This record gives sequence, C-alpha cells and structure tokens, in this order.
Amino acid sequence: MRSCSLIAPAKINLYLEIIGDRSDGFHELVMILQSISLADRVDIKPSDTQKICIYCDHPHVPEDETNLAYRAAQLMCRVFPDVHANYGGVSIRIAKNIPVAAGLAGGSGNAAAVLVGINLIWNLGLTQPELEELAAELGSDIPFCVSGGTAIATGRGEKLDSLANLDNIWLVLAKYDNIGVSTPWAYKTYRQQYSDSYIADAAGIKSRTAKINSSPLVNAIVNKNAKEIGKLIDNDLEKVVLPEYPQVAKLKSAFAAQDILGTMMSGSGPTVFALCDSEAQAIAVKERVKTQINDSQLRFWVTKLVSHGIQIKSQT
Ligand code: C5P
Repeated sequence: MRSCSLIAPAKINLYLEIIGDRSDGFHELVMILQSISLADRVDIKPSDTQKICIYCDHPHVPEDETNLAYRAAQLMCRVFPDVHANYGGVSIRIAKNIPVAAGLAGGSGNAAAVLVGINLIWNLGLTQPELEELAAELGSDIPFCVSGGTAIATGRGEKLDSLANLDNIWLVLAKYDNIGVSTPWAYKTYRQQYSDSYIADAAGIKSRTAKINSSPLVNAIVNKNAKEIGKLIDNDLEKVVLPEYPQVAKLKSAFAAQDILGTMMSGSGPTVFALCDSEAQAIAVKERVKTQINDSQLRFWVTKLVSHGIQIKSQT
C-alpha cells in the first residue's frame, strides 16, 4: 500500500472521576469514553524526503513537532528506523472538523490515525494492542482513540475495557470559539482544591477502580438504557472549569432546561454536550439553545455516538 485516508472520530467522556495522584505526576482516573461521529480526516502518503510533513487547513493547528500527529510519526520513525530508512518520510494532511482545545480529543485522534496509517503503509503488521501500547507513550487518551467505541478507561486513561456499543444516541455539542481550556490547568487546579479527598494507597485505588464495573452507569450502558445513562453521566473537572468559565456553566444550564437525556462538559472542556433520543430532538434542542444564548462565538454540532475508533476510508 502506498497511501491511505483515515477517519479519526472525536470522543466525549460519559464519566470522569479523579481518584488520586500518580508517581509520574499524572492522575489516577476512572473514565467512560465514547466515540462520536464528528471526525477529522487524516491522509497519509510517503514524502519525497526522509522528513515528516504535516499540513492542516485549520489556523490554530500547528504543522511542526508540537502537533501530536507529528509526534506519532516521529515515534514510528524512532521505533522502526530500518523501515523508515526503507520507505522514507511521511506526508500527513489533516482535514479538521473537530474543534481544537475542546475536550474532544481531536489532536489525540489525529495521532492515533497516524499510528494506524503508518502501520498500514509501512506494512508493519502491528496488532491493535501493540498500536495502543505505542499510543500510550504519546498521550493518555490516544490508546482509546485507536480502538474507540465505548470503553472504561483507568490508570492514566490508557487501560481500556470495552463496553457494549451505544450507537442509537444522538447529541448536540456546543463550544465557544473564543474559549479554550488548558487540560494541565484543569487537573492542576483540581489537585489544588480537592487533593485532600484523593485516595493515597495502592489498594484503595485498586478497589475504587474496580467499583466502576458494577456501577449504575455501567449497568445502564450494558442494558442500553439511554434515560439512565443521561441521568448518571458525571465529570469531576466540571467542579473547577465551570466556576472559572461562567459562560460554559450558563451553556450547560441552558441545555439542562431542555427536554434531553442529560448534559455534561466533555473532558477538561469547554465543550458541553446534550444527549438526545433522536436526530430530530438534537436539532430542535440546538435551535432553541442557539436562539436563547444568541452569541456569534457559540458553535453547535449535531452528531451521534459511534462504535468505532480509527477507520480506513480508502487506500491505494
Ligand atoms: O496525557 P495527556 O497529554 O493527554 O495529558 C494532558 C495533561 O492532562 C497532562 O499534562 C496532565 O496535566 C493532565 N492529566 C493528568 N492525569 C491524567 C491525564 C492527564 O493529570 N491521567
């Protein structure tokens, strides 16, 4: 294969609980992650040189090594130097649909697509677990972006357990163009305010982590009970992000006043989503909240839950 075109879906968190500190400076998390149909397209082909080249149509996406997709290609070149020497560098073109700095793992998804794509065009034959292991070196939620669907994520976010597919739920996403939240800031602020309640011992963390498997939210997901899922979604980071960004808090309240299954901020925000029973309901909710808030900086997307991570769209 010479080149490939990949679909890289965004993700939302249906659950995010911070349970403790880790010795690597990260947090011990218990999350439920969910892929959605809003996706970027990532095209990968050999470049004329040994170099990695990134092109992106979005003004806020860097085209250098600060881009996670670039770092994913760099990692593959470093781990497989002979194959890199043989095939040469790669040219990566990202068509951006997922908003950036939004808590939707857009950059992580692009990096996951690069790992999957280079595995294909270099004929490496890496398995999904092998790709996920490489992905964990780049970022906490990149392993999930490789496999996607619905999954419990623990540890730093890289340990995954797949759950039943939830693909009949729609959602409205809303994000202010002029608000971005720094993920390190959100976790650091949470630590400053809530570390007193962190579980400190390994046994305690293990037993708290195990509890998610029999939690009401996981039961609701297994039983595909959308109403219960909507009631049980939860995100600890809302406790620090919503007070700091009152506009985001107001947006969530506007969604909460609608006839929806549930509403929450995704990841470290500032995107807020509202889960809906149907596409028609999602469109109606979007129109009502748009009219009510009436701010030209506020953008909306109607999208749905999907059961896959990186998908190959075409290959030559
Ligand atoms: O791994 P990733 O690059 O996505 O993490 C971004 C930031 O989020 C980290 O630098 C860290 O500040 C915070 N984080 C954390 N604990 C995690 C995951 C992320 O503190 N488990």
